[in-house]
Amino acid sequence: MPEGSFAAWSRDRLAMARRGAEECGDVWQLEPGVYVAAAAEPCAAVLCRTQDFPKAPSPLFPPLRRSSGAPTAEERARAHAARMRGLRAQAVAARIGEIAPRTARFAERLPAGRDVEILPAVRHTLAEIGTGYLFAEDASALLPYAAQLFLAREVLVRPSRWVWPRWVPTPARRFRTRQQVAFTDALRPVVSRRRSSGRLGDDMLGQMLRPSPRYGLLPEEAVLDTLPGITVATFETPARAAGWILLQLARHPQEADRVATEAAGLPADPATTTNAHLGGLPYTRALVNEVLRLYPPSWLLTRHAPRQTQLAGYTIDAGSTVLVCPYTVHRDAREYSEPDRFQPERWLDGPDSPAKPGAFLSFGTGPHGCEGSALAMAMLTLLTAQTARRCHLSEPPGPLPSHQVTTLEGLAPAGLRLRATLRG
Ligand code: HEM
Repeated sequence: MPEGSFAAWSRDRLAMARRGAEECGDVWQLEPGVYVAAAAEPCAAVLCRTQDFPKAPSPLFPPLRRSSGAPTAEERARAHAARMRGLRAQAVAARIGEIAPRTARFAERLPAGRDVEILPAVRHTLAEIGTGYLFAEDASALLPYAAQLFLAREVLVRPSRWVWPRWVPTPARRFRTRQQVAFTDALRPVVSRRRSSGRLGDDMLGQMLRPSPRYGLLPEEAVLDTLPGITVATFETPARAAGWILLQLARHPQEADRVATEAAGLPADPATTTNAHLGGLPYTRALVNEVLRLYPPSWLLTRHAPRQTQLAGYTIDAGSTVLVCPYTVHRDAREYSEPDRFQPERWLDGPDSPAKPGAFLSFGTGPHGCEGSALAMAMLTLLTAQTARRCHLSEPPGPLPSHQVTTLEGLAPAGLRLRATLRG
């Protein structure tokens, strides 16, 4: 345990995470009962050994039906399978032509020549894409509810002096439940209409309403329970990632120029963009990966150890919390040469391309790895390419920093302001 670690952690979590790893090794103790897995191998082990290190159900949008209790393992597997039918890479590839026009519009609407707070704008675009991906022609009716769910999430994750037991109906939790009920009430008639008309739709909701060969039909309540969390997931973390990407475009003009050159090959009418066009953006994708490596939006993942167990030679006591740290894995010189350097080329195919399992954890790994990684990569690659094609970005001149780094609920460039100048 590094000296004064908990106080130092409260002051600067990123610096403390690196100090802990440097001074104490691949697994270290932050305080009694709280361990940090800091290197690729123990991190991947924690995320993959779900019996020893189970993931607690997300407290953000719990199922509305309290009487039936937590979903069983079988129910979770059914819901996961239903979601993945809509989110797997093949399904995303078929819908690039719907995603590209919205990312292009973001770039077109960036006002030129003045400082703009970028995260709200990018979040709105990604929410349009996300709800469109989930609900197609029903998206515009559901978008306002999605925005409210996001607000409810923000209020819930705000730091507070007290950690109330889960059953206490704090104002934040009551607000969350009201928004969740409102969203579900708006969604229920959509589901009923699609089911009764037999026109289930080709969007993600349509995929979830189809029977799976293995599990049959997912019950309607399970569909409704899973969608608030998924809806927010389509734009909340991606918006954090997009903020870091746009900031790096501003800080690395040569790399931005290279993205712009590559993006010149995209079709003039974004609606005709296909997965093959996306495949023609290897450098842009590499840049997105490099930003996700240096600034993993989910930089710390939490697990628990219900029983005593071993991890990388350490004994983890029963009842401990284990924090998995993609941030330190990604800045470990054993995994990446010059790990603090921004170097998108390292992701281009070649002998040095980082491919070791567990060394890239921005989307987690194992049974709880990110379900939306294909969608996220498609949205972020297109947004990056189209923005760089249309404009140069820069940080506003002057004494004020362009953003503040926040680390409490994910790694984010809070308040990020950037200036766009149209390319000649
Ligand atoms: C840049 C964007 C994104 C990043 C960095 C990201 C990151 C992550 C990470 C690290 C996890 C694992 C959490 C853990 O192990 O505790 C995760 C899980 C998850 N992500 Fe993403 N995510 C992104 C976008 C998305 C999108 C677009 C969706 C889509 C709908 C999504 C849906 C999910 C779901 C449902 C899980 C939970 C999986 C489970 O617990 O079994 N994510 N994500």
